[in-house]
Amino acid sequence: MKLKGEVAAVTGAGSGIGAAIAREFALEGAAVVLLDAKLDAAQGVVAEITKAGGRAQCWAMNVTRQAEVEAAATAAEAAMGPLSIWVNCAGVSRILPFLECTEATWDLMLDVNLKGAFFCCQAAVRRMLPRKRGAIINLSSQSGKVGASAYAAYCASKFGVIGLTQSLAQEFAAQGIRVNAICPGIVPTPMWEQQTVDYARKRGMKPEEVRPYLLSKIPLGRVCEPREVARMAVFLAGDGAAYVTGQAINLTGGAVMD
Ligand SMILES: NC(=O)c1ccc[n+]([C@@H]2O[C@H](COP(=O)([O-])OP(=O)(O)OC[C@H]3O[C@@H](n4cnc5c(N)ncnc54)[C@H](O)[C@@H]3O)[C@@H](O)[C@H]2O)c1
Repeated sequence: MKLKGEVAAVTGAGSGIGAAIAREFALEGAAVVLLDAKLDAAQGVVAEITKAGGRAQCWAMNVTRQAEVEAAATAAEAAMGPLSIWVNCAGVSRILPFLECTEATWDLMLDVNLKGAFFCCQAAVRRMLPRKRGAIINLSSQSGKVGASAYAAYCASKFGVIGLTQSLAQEFAAQGIRVNAICPGIVPTPMWEQQTVDYARKRGMKPEEVRPYLLSKIPLGRVCEPREVARMAVFLAGDGAAYVTGQAINLTGGAVMD
């Protein structure tokens, strides 16, 4: 077990990639703190983990509200022990032409994806600093490496997550806190499924043409499974990555190589 004795918080843990990371961390022996705006979804994942013999609890928390983030982190530490790993997965995404992007949509993307990561990184660093030990993992995206049409707000937020990651890696390396990002391509989760129709509109395609088109752009010829993101998170959280910080690791099947 690679994470035995660790206590790991995962935001957005009620769905998709966050849920996969919570399950995988529990399999690797970590006690898992699931944080999500949707408590019922997180409760479902906690029940699965507990049934499989793992240790997990969840708290409702909106990452855009700093007081909620701090309160959840404090309650989680009281119940589960000192947090040594924090993964920021909570996120939202919209594909829409730039001139249709309203201020409200821009604010939603930046608030959840970037300001939320900022609040959560502060909560994590604050708690890890006294112990001089911790690993923070931020979910960026291949859209944090390469811009895409009809995706300006999302790309801006995910480029920002990489800047945040590199800055914190520099600032806290000497205090034993490593900070890395994962940049997946297409991961079949509720987020991605919701966007297929918008993607088809953007490219002038039928929705059923989207998947084969996208697969043709991926050298490995398939999408990334949520569990593959979770395995990367286990690596970055564990001792095997003791010399890895400030990195933004592509999980794109070769579609992005920089
Ligand atoms: N699915 C993909 O193809 C893909 C690719 C690259 C990056 N990502 C990133 O990975 C992360 C997870 O994506 P996913 O596909 O699992 O999405 P998802 O929609 O399946 O899950 C996102 C979770 O975040 C939670 N959430 C949303 N807003 C929140 C808020 N304000 N406060 C707390 N929780 C909130 C939701 O309730 C949900 O449980 C996101 O940051 C996303 O941008 C996803």
